[in-house]
Amino acid sequence: MLFDTYANSALTFANHIVMAPMTRSRADHRDAVPNAMMVEYYRQRASAGLIISEGVPTSDRARGYIHTGALWNEAQAAGWKKVNQAVHAAGGKIFAQLWHVGRVSHSALHADRSPPAGVSGQAAKTKTYIPGPDGVPQIADCEMPSALSTAEAKGIAVEFGHAARMARLADFDGVEIHGANGYLFDQFRCPQLNQRSDEYGGSLENRYRMLLETVDAVAAVYDPACIAVRQSPFGTNNDMQADPDPLGTYVYIAQHLDRRKIGFLHIYDQSCTWIHDASHPLMPALRQAYRGAIIACGGFNKENAEAILARGHANLVAIGKPFISNPDLVERLKRGAALNAFDQKTFFTGGARGYTDYPALTV
Ligand SMILES: Cc1cc2nc3c(=O)[nH]c(=O)nc-3n(C[C@H](O)[C@H](O)[C@H](O)COP(=O)(O)O)c2cc1C
Repeated sequence: MLFDTYANSALTFANHIVMAPMTRSRADHRDAVPNAMMVEYYRQRASAGLIISEGVPTSDRARGYIHTGALWNEAQAAGWKKVNQAVHAAGGKIFAQLWHVGRVSHSALHADRSPPAGVSGQAAKTKTYIPGPDGVPQIADCEMPSALSTAEAKGIAVEFGHAARMARLADFDGVEIHGANGYLFDQFRCPQLNQRSDEYGGSLENRYRMLLETVDAVAAVYDPACIAVRQSPFGTNNDMQADPDPLGTYVYIAQHLDRRKIGFLHIYDQSCTWIHDASHPLMPALRQAYRGAIIACGGFNKENAEAILARGHANLVAIGKPFISNPDLVERLKRGAALNAFDQKTFFTGGARGYTDYPALTV
């Protein structure tokens, strides 16, 4: 099953394996245009059924880390187009992961020195990397955000709609809206963090309003069958707190994506535990609520990937870290070949080292 083709009404993938979105921080910070090294990195991994790109900021203020390739202007789209042409020439498919970090940021990352964009005025107790005085990345605490006004909150969907148009210009096959991991949409969802009294705060409907407005704006650009939305139930990364009603919350968003015929609901288990537990209630509840393809992510290998597909809790499996160190991961899994170990030290730094120099099988 894992190695069979997957198709929906708009897309065909060579297999059921997705390369998970991974920030690798190799772009030039000033213009955020993807470079030749990034073209080569994605080309090497094009045998994945689908690549979901690294998180791609949708505006200057959406940036939360140094050296991320972005997608708010035509120069950036032209850079991504080279990546996408290389992936397509190698037989692959690729989505852009559209990303706004919200409060997980620092004014040094923004051209106008604006503070991070918050759901409310609470700083994220976590770190980021900013440009140091000599241009070298420097670790820093995330700064106190300023809460988005209602008009600014409404503008996020417009911003993502524009980024989706840039993604089209760049020949991405689709886009994923990054609604997970403690970034902007996840911050609005979070009832402990979201202290707003406008139409974006309070009820579950209000806390998911911005994400669904964004889905609609992106669906005005891309066929809904070419759109994915990522969620991280029970996730605590980036100073998040556990959702008090995970079943209610995630079934709600699944139902609303189902109504809009969105192609992919991407579920990431940060703990790599419950998603592998056949008796855990969340995945069956999402399956019931949503008829599109569920992508499961978090600690997958060949065996547990086949198992989750066989029990029908997911339609596709996304794999992250093993793709960093194994450009030909699909072939290695197919053959049962040994995997190269990944080097965490070069995840976000190191140029070509730990990026494009991991070997593929030679025979
Ligand atoms: C270096 C690195 C960068 C990541 N960047 C992103 C990102 O930009 N967007 C995102 O949604 N998840 C990101 N993740 C999480 C991965 O998409 C994936 O969910 C995680 O690695 C778990 O999958 P795995 O167990 O197969 O590695 C990142 C993970 C790693 C290791």
